[in-house]
Amino acid sequence: MNSIVIAIDGPAGTGKSIVAKLLAEKINFHYVDSGIYYRAITYWIIKNNIKPNELQKINDFVKNSKIEIKDDNVFLNGADITKDIRNMEVTNKVSSVSKLRNLRKIISQKLRDCANSGNLVMDGKDIGTVVFPDAKVKFFISCDDSMRAARRQQEFLDIGQKIPRDKMLKEMLKRDEVDATRQEGPLKKAEDAIELDTTNMIVEEQVDFLNRKLIAKGIIE
Ligand code: CDP
Repeated sequence: MNSIVIAIDGPAGTGKSIVAKLLAEKINFHYVDSGIYYRAITYWIIKNNIKPNELQKINDFVKNSKIEIKDDNVFLNGADITKDIRNMEVTNKVSSVSKLRNLRKIISQKLRDCANSGNLVMDGKDIGTVVFPDAKVKFFISCDDSMRAARRQQEFLDIGQKIPRDKMLKEMLKRDEVDATRQEGPLKKAEDAIELDTTNMIVEEQVDFLNRKLIAKGIIE
């Protein structure tokens, strides 16, 4: 693999996905939101009423499934699931699905394969630590809790779901806790990651910060 990988990790609602996407556009790299993979499988589990102990069934499905991102839309084996994977039911369940060890191994490999098609910006929870420990540059995005809840609340409003701020915050903190304490691929800052607190920054400033770091490191001109 000779592609350049930029890894961006951080808790929910820090704005990392939008920053990662805009950065990728700016520097002409592919962009992959790794959370989509975990959300897609969680959606399938809920839709098909799969029990958490049906591990073989889950792993077989993940291995053979095709998750594609085309023009901001997400497809699972050809079906458009763009809206479904963002709903509250999937959001509440995704962390418990993401704890499954073998499922993580299979998804991590699928994520690594994304680098075969060229330079890549990928965001998630364990990109700089597990998926691409040798990524050229790693960022860890953080943000104040109340700002995270406000941003996430707005994202839900954008898809027509009104969720109280305190409920939003509770859901996010609970998910962070599960994500950060799991055995396999926990959410954590890689030792060599550059940290960015986005609390008081607008998106353009965040993209600019990351872009300047890449220039300073000689990744881009
Ligand atoms: O942006 P936000 O953190 O809300 O969510 P996401 O990136 O869509 O990820 C949803 C969930 O997928 C996370 O809460 C994790 O449980 C899981 N995930 C993971 O375990 N590892 C990743 N690399 C990406 C997501």
